[in-house]
Amino acid sequence: MSQHHVLPSYLRQDELGPWGTYLQQIDRVTPYLGSLSRWIETLKRPKRALIVDVPIELDNGTVAHFEGYRVQHNTSRGPGKGGLRYHQDVTLSEVMALSAWMSIKNAAVNVPYGGAKGGIRVDPRKLSRGELERMTRRYTSEINFIIGPNTDIPAPDVNTNEQVMAWMMDTYSMNQGRTATGVVTGKPITLGGSLGRKEATARGVFVVACESARQIGLDIAGARIAIQGFGNVGGIAARLFSEAGAKVIAVQDHTGTLYRPAGIEVLKLLEHVAQTGGIVGFTGAEPLAADEFWGLETDILIPAALEGQITEKNAPRIRTKIVVEGANGPTTPLADDILNEHGILVIPDVIANAGGVTVSYFEWVQDFSSFFWSEDEINHRLERVMREAFASIWQVALEHRVSVRTAAYIVACTRILMAREMRGLYP
Ligand SMILES: NC(=O)c1ccc[n+]([C@@H]2O[C@H](COP(=O)([O-])OP(=O)(O)OC[C@H]3O[C@@H](n4cnc5c(N)ncnc54)[C@H](O)[C@@H]3O)[C@@H](O)[C@H]2O)c1
Repeated sequence: MSQHHVLPSYLRQDELGPWGTYLQQIDRVTPYLGSLSRWIETLKRPKRALIVDVPIELDNGTVAHFEGYRVQHNTSRGPGKGGLRYHQDVTLSEVMALSAWMSIKNAAVNVPYGGAKGGIRVDPRKLSRGELERMTRRYTSEINFIIGPNTDIPAPDVNTNEQVMAWMMDTYSMNQGRTATGVVTGKPITLGGSLGRKEATARGVFVVACESARQIGLDIAGARIAIQGFGNVGGIAARLFSEAGAKVIAVQDHTGTLYRPAGIEVLKLLEHVAQTGGIVGFTGAEPLAADEFWGLETDILIPAALEGQITEKNAPRIRTKIVVEGANGPTTPLADDILNEHGILVIPDVIANAGGVTVSYFEWVQDFSSFFWSEDEINHRLERVMREAFASIWQVALEHRVSVRTAAYIVACTRILMAREMRGLYP
């Protein structure tokens, strides 16, 4: 971590976590921003960070308290937008970084949003359905005054899903006294959700993987794919790649690692995970030691679990042609440099996984107009947005001779800081 950042008093220099990664990414883009770099400090602190206590009554009659966050990093280009994560390791630094990556991502694909993110420090697997609902509703009530269809719109992230979004929408609506479907995206279809939203992030990963493969002359049919994370993003991406004739040769999740050089039967593995909650115990592939996953020879490696997975420790062993970041923040800056030195093309999170927020944007627009589009129309528009964003970022990378990540940051930060400059400071 470079030392010169002025940190807010609520962060500790030695415990910056993912926020430290984000600050280094901002340092790398600053020299390319010209006179807009005058505004760069705007990006180095969140606009608003709310920490809430979430008390609920457990099924056994006792009361439990959970720590919840909602961070709005930047709203220069529009309302805050970003997911909600339930995980036992959630921290303020992590939610801050995730909210900042949302600002960059939304600007990189040019959807009219700022960046935000939420989280609760909880292992949701330890809660009953009733407890999960009570926690979601209480959290929503606690952050009620800073979210809304025009202010900040949550969506699913790790360990949250369309049911959690339905509870959030209902709680917010009850507090408002009217149904406000546009307060969250990633809702069930019957409650104003969008066709194609569930698959959107993975579809975006697949589209940018195909575009980048084309740039380096790699054929997707027959390509060897390894995926870390087999949830919404990783599981559906595996299906899309295998439908396109690629071979998913390795998969890792929180329960284990699987390897099958001839290609895993993805539909069977998805069924196994739906029944058991994880990939462990699947008999259609060999179990592998977790660490060996990173050394496998592949054509495309897709981290789609949590941040900080590719570090200076495992990056030197990675033998792949393209890393497509399905997860947010999976690669540390040091690891990024190692991959670049090894000639591995890294397609960064802020473009690779932007398909989710793109269809969230479509969902929000559909909710406002109460007019819903067909799945074909959504997928078609999604693919167009992703291809155009990829092409313009690729062009910037070539022009400036920088990594695709820095190019994406150049495009995004220029848009955000131009908006900041034109709006000016109030008062
Ligand atoms: N859901 C979306 O629309 C969306 C959009 C953009 C980015 N993302 C990002 O994609 C990533 C995955 O999100 P998701 O929605 O698929 O979550 P999910 O909860 O559906 O799945 C998470 C997966 O990660 C695995 N995992 C957790 N800890 C792990 C570990 N230590 N080692 C290996 N695997 C582990 C889990 O087993 C699970 O398979 C996150 O970084 C998230 O921020 C998600």
